[in-house]
Amino acid sequence: MIKVEGLSKRYARHVAVDNISFEVEKGKIVGFLGPNGAGKTTTMRILTCFMPPSEGFAEVAGFNVMDAPMEVKRRIGYLPETPPLYPEMEVGEYLTFVGKLKGLSGTDLAKRAEEVAERCNVADVRNKLISKLSKGYRQRVGLAQAIIHNPEVLILDEPTSGLDPKQIIETRDLIKSLAGDHTIILSTHILPEVEQTCESVIIIANGKVVARDSVENLTSRLRGAETVAVEVEPRSGELDSGAVQAKLEQVSGVSRVVLKDSKTGRSYFEVESLQGRSVRAELARAVIESGWNLNELRGVNVSLEDIFLQLTSADQPSKGDA
Ligand SMILES: Nc1ncnc2c1ncn2[C@@H]1O[C@H](COP(=O)(O)OP(=O)(O)OP(=O)(O)O)[C@@H](O)[C@H]1O
Ligand SMILES: [Mg+2]
Repeated sequence: MIKVEGLSKRYARHVAVDNISFEVEKGKIVGFLGPNGAGKTTTMRILTCFMPPSEGFAEVAGFNVMDAPMEVKRRIGYLPETPPLYPEMEVGEYLTFVGKLKGLSGTDLAKRAEEVAERCNVADVRNKLISKLSKGYRQRVGLAQAIIHNPEVLILDEPTSGLDPKQIIETRDLIKSLAGDHTIILSTHILPEVEQTCESVIIIANGKVVARDSVENLTSRLRGAETVAVEVEPRSGELDSGAVQAKLEQVSGVSRVVLKDSKTGRSYFEVESLQGRSVRAELARAVIESGWNLNELRGVNVSLEDIFLQLTSADQPSKGDA
């Protein structure tokens, strides 16, 4: 439904989007995840024909964004970072206005305006001026305008930003209920958003795609490799934390040992295992057999957040490279 190949966008000398490729299947909901400045909005603007790419190819519902922008726009509902609202209009009036712009008319128009107002929970404010609405309600009106012409594809740029927790849950539920009928890309820099709303995720950093996977795979990929916290104490005398570290590193299945802290004679390590390897029993044995006390051995949770940070910081150019 959405196909992007070798897409790049340069602003003057700055490369905002750097040779990215991905595909989104019909009816799927995909999270576009990345830190500030990663290139999410830029990519979405290209997909919605708001600006042309510098290089590469993008296709939405079978139409090329460069060759057939009108066809693409007809099939896309777009919620930009700031919803395109007219503050001096009433909600109902605004939705009718947008519906007309998108080619609806007559009873169809009235019916759709009413349907989307109900669906996005703004029916009770349809006679209110947009300027009088709270941020959350404005966002809902923004979503309503994006879906009024029942587009095949929805492009939502940070749809829950600035909402309170209750509104976030409502908006996520609304978006989830739209998947299936619609193909959705939503951008966010909030991980739980992706975990809770999306089926798959495209992680972008510095204009490049750094990971692309199902949310499940991405999470288990990182959780499959376990991190274990280990605290070691000498039975007597001083503890040589270098010796402990070396011992832990020798345990089969261990990929990395990091000394996190060393105080009052104790040393605290985080030990990462290779994917699918359980190393706890061997770690315990190694410590005890070396004549040290094992004070603590417990799993450390690796969150999607950690994964995200790993992926998005690995590629950052250092300041000296600029
Ligand atoms: N009109 C512009 N002119 C010059 N540079 C721009 C322009 N728009 C964006 N950029 C730059 O392009 C890069 C990508 O910006 P973009 O807005 O796509 O990021 P983003 O992932 O949407 O970030 P955020 O999470 O902050 O919304 C940034 O470095 C930004 O400064
Ligand atoms: Mg943005």
